[in-house]
Amino acid sequence: MTKKSFYLTTPIYYPSGNLHIGHAYTTVAADALARYKRMQGYEVRFLTGTDEHGQKIERKAKEAGKAPLEFVDTIVAGIRNLWDKLLISHDDFIRTTEERHKKVVQDIFKRIYDQGDIYKSEYEGWYCTPCETFFTQRQLAENQTCPDCGRPVELVKEESYFFKMSKYADQLLQYIEEHPDFIQPVTRKHEMVNFVKQGLEDLCVSRTTFSWGIPVPIDGKHVIYVWFDALTNYISALGYGMEDDSLFRKFWPADVHLVGKDIMRFHTIIWPIILMAAGIELPQKVFGHGWVLLDSGKMSKSKGNVIDPLVLIDKYGVDAVRYFLLREVPFGQDGYYSEEALVNRINIDLANDFGNLISRSTAMVNKFLGGTVAAPGAGTEFDQELIDLAQATPAQVEKLMDKLEFSNALAEIWKLVNKANKYIDDAAPWSLNKDPQGREKLETVLYNLAEVIRLCTVMCTPMMPSLPEKVWVQMGIEGQEEIMGWDSLLWGKFPAGTKIHRGDPIFPRIDLKELEKDSEALEVSEASVPEESAQAEEKEEAIEEIMPEITIEDFAKIDLRVAEVLSCEKVKKADKLLQLSVKVGDEVRTVVSGIAEHYQPEELVGKKVIVVANLKPAKLRGIESRGMILAASHDGKLEVVTIDEITPGGTVR
Ligand code: MSP
Repeated sequence: MTKKSFYLTTPIYYPSGNLHIGHAYTTVAADALARYKRMQGYEVRFLTGTDEHGQKIERKAKEAGKAPLEFVDTIVAGIRNLWDKLLISHDDFIRTTEERHKKVVQDIFKRIYDQGDIYKSEYEGWYCTPCETFFTQRQLAENQTCPDCGRPVELVKEESYFFKMSKYADQLLQYIEEHPDFIQPVTRKHEMVNFVKQGLEDLCVSRTTFSWGIPVPIDGKHVIYVWFDALTNYISALGYGMEDDSLFRKFWPADVHLVGKDIMRFHTIIWPIILMAAGIELPQKVFGHGWVLLDSGKMSKSKGNVIDPLVLIDKYGVDAVRYFLLREVPFGQDGYYSEEALVNRINIDLANDFGNLISRSTAMVNKFLGGTVAAPGAGTEFDQELIDLAQATPAQVEKLMDKLEFSNALAEIWKLVNKANKYIDDAAPWSLNKDPQGREKLETVLYNLAEVIRLCTVMCTPMMPSLPEKVWVQMGIEGQEEIMGWDSLLWGKFPAGTKIHRGDPIFPRIDLKELEKDSEALEVSEASVPEESAQAEEKEEAIEEIMPEITIEDFAKIDLRVAEVLSCEKVKKADKLLQLSVKVGDEVRTVVSGIAEHYQPEELVGKKVIVVANLKPAKLRGIESRGMILAASHDGKLEVVTIDEITPGGTVR
């Protein structure tokens, strides 16, 4: 029998800097879904990748003094590494700079042009480069800013090709109406339908003022608009239109495009219209999830409030980070990240609830049964309650996973975990052990616990892929694949007679006091570091008063020098600090600077900055800092002062 296929995609990421926990959210959710579908026996194709063209990337590369491809190569390697660390099980990773992609984009553009749906005209309007989005005057937010990201937009006037989106508006509305599951959650569907009903304008699909993009096939002066280019990845990765298009035939239309709510318009309006114009079937579903927010608002590099998932994985482990993301925020809604919330989830759900269930159960099997799980005897009514819940839970979890309700699915599994913990208290195996008549009951209770642990672990596998291996070793069933898959979610498959191997706690508790001490230490050591508070970001900051007068002799005491940044890295457990190695003349010294919320380490390497070279050395987080880097700050922003021409060691007066 041929397997049912399932094609799911994440957005392809802009390699303009390191990814943060918000980006990881989409991919972790997609990965949980992919793993779940695979466990259910689907032939899954899970695609992710990078969106490498456009003005933003071209500018960033220029700032870094690199060619665009050279610039993105390093970042793409970092993104791949992050997905490895997060145990993302994608089947393909597409880069829009690959030939297999470019050709498909050009072919589709040409086809739509040839049929008269793309025409040449002139674009005059607004463009937000960070979002790579065109806006009409009417769509702009206050003070000519981008309605999506709030940053200033640019006025663009250039010859462009336009795509007749307006022609397809009615067809799209009809499609949405006839396919009630196409746009989800349903609130986003209403937003999109309203947007289309307000009237679609033709879309500018080429640019001439920069060159980092796929050339328009009929006019080499133009490059194709980056969203037209990027969206096409979903079919170019399947070899659409190529000699071997077997993947396309097998997997298209996509079952789910998983995207953040900010890019729903591109996926539910522009993309379907491109497909309609090109005569290609539309995806089954576009699901727009909410934001992972911080107390200080939306994460953004310009605000300097991004959370690095790699740091969290190192500190808490990949399963805990994945669990938190999927459990804490109901998929579809916005939710908040804080380290405290993460630690609470680890301590309560993972360590107290699930970890403890495993630990107590294995301890009792060791103590009361000499380490071997025996066959259950005839159960009582009381055992049956646990068994009934264990038998009903998989179907509930399935129903919720099919609706992408990851948080509710986990909550359902935890009902069973908690029921089992309560069952231990009620059954009191320690008393049964003392009762000469209690042997059979004791064996039954401990068998039931082993079986619940197995079932919960199987159901958690898509969300916490490195968990099962650890549990199987402790439960003594490693390698027994037939009782680890989704189809093994039936009561009673745990093999009686299994010798368990109790080990260290699978989810060690995190000491909150230690964590608080860490952040206190951070506050103390960073007292001299400029603070960027959440409020500072919200309201315009007053310009600081000029300080009292000093003499020229006073000023002459400060030895300011040009220094070249040779290397730079984040200081462990200090969100605000970067450790830089800088060259001042012939000397190389270490400087610790509180600018980590404003710069990624790699952005500074190669830059020439100004240091206060004769500042008394100070220890920050145990690292001796020799000098201080000059930076300007206002209104929540911070910019390091840089020099272009002067050699490292040169004086600044
Ligand atoms: N390159 C486009 C996508 C093109 S798809 C054809 C893009 N890239 S992105 O890198 O800016 O964002 C990738 C994904 O991360 C998007 O789904 C976006 O919504 C998501 N997130 C970015 N920040 C986020 C949060 N703080 N929270 C949740 N998801 C967020 O857009």
